[in-house]
Order: sequence, then structure tokens, then C-alpha cells
Amino acid sequence: MAGDKVRRLIDVGRARRVGSSSLSLSWDNSTRRRSDLRLESFANGGAYPNRPFRLKIPRLGLEVNIGTDETVLDVLEAAGADPLFNCRKGECGLCAVDFLGYSGELDHRDVFFSDEKKKEGVKLCACVSRISGESLTIDLP
Ligand code: FES
Repeated sequence: MAGDKVRRLIDVGRARRVGSSSLSLSWDNSTRRRSDLRLESFANGGAYPNRPFRLKIPRLGLEVNIGTDETVLDVLEAAGADPLFNCRKGECGLCAVDFLGYSGELDHRDVFFSDEKKKEGVKLCACVSRISGESLTIDLP
């Protein structure tokens, strides 16, 4: 049906595993126009409920509490750290910060980093990711 818009909902993790070219090929084989392909990603709700924790940024000499309804990015902005960001949904990766240490469990809630990158334990997306534990120590890029 010419002119019809069809949305294909995908799992971002699956898309990474099979690759975007495989998805495009699959779409092309359906005889639909490539220009009608729309991809959407969905936020990762996290593995743990939101809990408050202490955020430490040694470079800035900053230690602040992060409440259940705040993000690391919120607190960085409030502290005047001028962090980079764009989507605030864990999709673009611009807000990624280096983490230096933590106590508790890391809760990566972004869809930007691959599972492998998340396991490396080097960066996290400040707009959505957090810890379930006592404290998180980060550095800014
Ligand atoms: S602002 Fe885009 S991932 Fe955080």
C-alpha cells in the first residue's frame, strides 16, 4: 500500500547483535520502501529501584547526595559542571562519564553502550544510569 507508514519496533540489543544492515535487508525484502523504515528505541528501566546515593567527583572536589528522582546529569548541571548531553534518554551517549569506583551494584539504564562495554565498567550514561548502593565516584571527560 503506497503511502502507508509502518513502524517496526525493534529491540536495540537484538539490532546490535544482527546489525542494522540485516534489519535494512529484511525491510527491503518486504518490498517496502527504505524511506518508510522508522526505528525507535525504548528506554531501559534498570535492574533496581531508584535509591539515593552519594556522588563523588574528586576532580571538582564535589560530593553530593542524589535523590531517588534525580540523575547524575541533573546533579552535574546543578553543580555547574557544564556536562555534555542531548537526548536525556540513554540513547546518544553524549553524557557518558568515566567512573572511578562505586559501592553497590551498577545499574546501566542506557541503550547506547553494548553489553560488552557495560561489563568493562569504564563509562556510564549520566542521564539515566545510576547505582543501587552507597556511593559512585566519577570523572568528567
Ligand atoms: S544525554 Fe544522551 S545518553 Fe545521556
